[in-house]
Amino acid sequence: MSNETFPPISRVAVVGGAGHVGLPLALLIAQQGFDVTIVDINEETLALIRSGKMPFHERDADELLPQVLATGRLHLTSQNEALRDQDLVIVTIGTPVDEYLDPDVRTFDRVIHTTLSHMRDGQLLMIRSTVFPGVTDRLGRQVSDHSLKVDVAYCPERIAQGFALQELVKLPQIVSGTTPRAAHRAAEFFERLRAEIIELPPIEAELAKLFSNSYRYINFAIANQFYMLAERYGADFERVRDAVTRKYPRMQGFSGAGFAAGPCLLKDTMQLAAFNHNVLTLGQNAMMINEGLPRFLVDQLKTKHDLVPLTVGVLGMAFKANCDDPRSSLSYKLRKVLTMECRKVLCTDPYIQNPEFVSLEECLAQSDILIVGACHDEYRNIQTNKPIVDVFGFLPKAASRGSAT
Ligand SMILES: NC(=O)c1ccc[n+]([C@@H]2O[C@H](COP(=O)([O-])OP(=O)(O)OC[C@H]3O[C@@H](n4cnc5c(N)ncnc54)[C@H](O)[C@@H]3O)[C@@H](O)[C@H]2O)c1
Repeated sequence: MSNETFPPISRVAVVGGAGHVGLPLALLIAQQGFDVTIVDINEETLALIRSGKMPFHERDADELLPQVLATGRLHLTSQNEALRDQDLVIVTIGTPVDEYLDPDVRTFDRVIHTTLSHMRDGQLLMIRSTVFPGVTDRLGRQVSDHSLKVDVAYCPERIAQGFALQELVKLPQIVSGTTPRAAHRAAEFFERLRAEIIELPPIEAELAKLFSNSYRYINFAIANQFYMLAERYGADFERVRDAVTRKYPRMQGFSGAGFAAGPCLLKDTMQLAAFNHNVLTLGQNAMMINEGLPRFLVDQLKTKHDLVPLTVGVLGMAFKANCDDPRSSLSYKLRKVLTMECRKVLCTDPYIQNPEFVSLEECLAQSDILIVGACHDEYRNIQTNKPIVDVFGFLPKAASRGSAT
């Protein structure tokens, strides 16, 4: 099919389309006039979306979802048979690392195998999930070994969770293909979304995505290590950070301290490390620092308080501020460490329904010490005389004056 041309893309399937990456993308492209089919194995979430309700918090999506459903351009199914009718199949499934911190290759291969077995000649397959280096070219070889004539592109998603609808129309799109035509077709698709295109070979597109997340993860680790050092000297990390960043252009990239967690940063750093003989020592050190922060905070507390008879409250269980996603949140690790050290741990989060959690009022009233786990806006003006550990430097100084560490 090397000289064939294809009609412009009008029908798009999003495999994994009920997830945090797939759903906002599906909504946006349906809004732009494409006919979109979400293919996802999670029937419960599909039913919720069909009823017009978002399964997770995503800015502006609560309004957009019913609007898009009303156009009749958004379809939802758990059946892969729908893939045959599409011009473009975008894959947005999760790509986790396993218990050995290695990429879970088998799951990815299984889903791709099933997806390809329902595709037909002439379609474009676009991988949007984050993959480890070499996956796209390997997939291109696998496809060309079969009789199926499908173009393979890799176009990594780069949105910040919660801001997808705003960022999808703003961010340049990194586009790659295992053939020039695959890249061209993928670029044409994103041009119709009015995106600026950055074209790279697949290996560089894969590295671009992994470098971004690993860079951020390592950057957070620098701040967290400096925070730990400042604490050892009895110094105020935030005051030092303010001093070195204020009107000082060379330090603007110096991030604040805090929990560097969530479903992407650590696992993408490990994806980069794992198949490079673990030579990404910066990334692995970053993991030790970031994952060690909850234990460090508790150890610091123990130097000033006998925790055994005390109740400690954790404010915010989501992996980041103003978000309802608990995946890989370090607040849960903090809870585990505290459970071993103090009488009782209370957790609260306005965005996460969990019968084990208590209300903010109860958490404030019952706890002897509080620790900020996620910087939700709801906590910014909390009134309490209890000591608060605020590694993020998020609360106004007056609120954290009882600084417990
Ligand atoms: N969450 C983010 O902010 C973000 C940002 C950029 C890139 N990414 C990357 O995007 C990918 C997806 O992440 P996510 O956070 O959206 O994950 P997610 O778990 O929220 O979504 C994955 C979806 O895939 C579905 N799924 C799983 N197996 C399937 C199958 N066999 N067929 C059809 N559907 C299937 C799941 O039911 C789920 O709805 C990952 O590679 C991630 O690293 C995520």
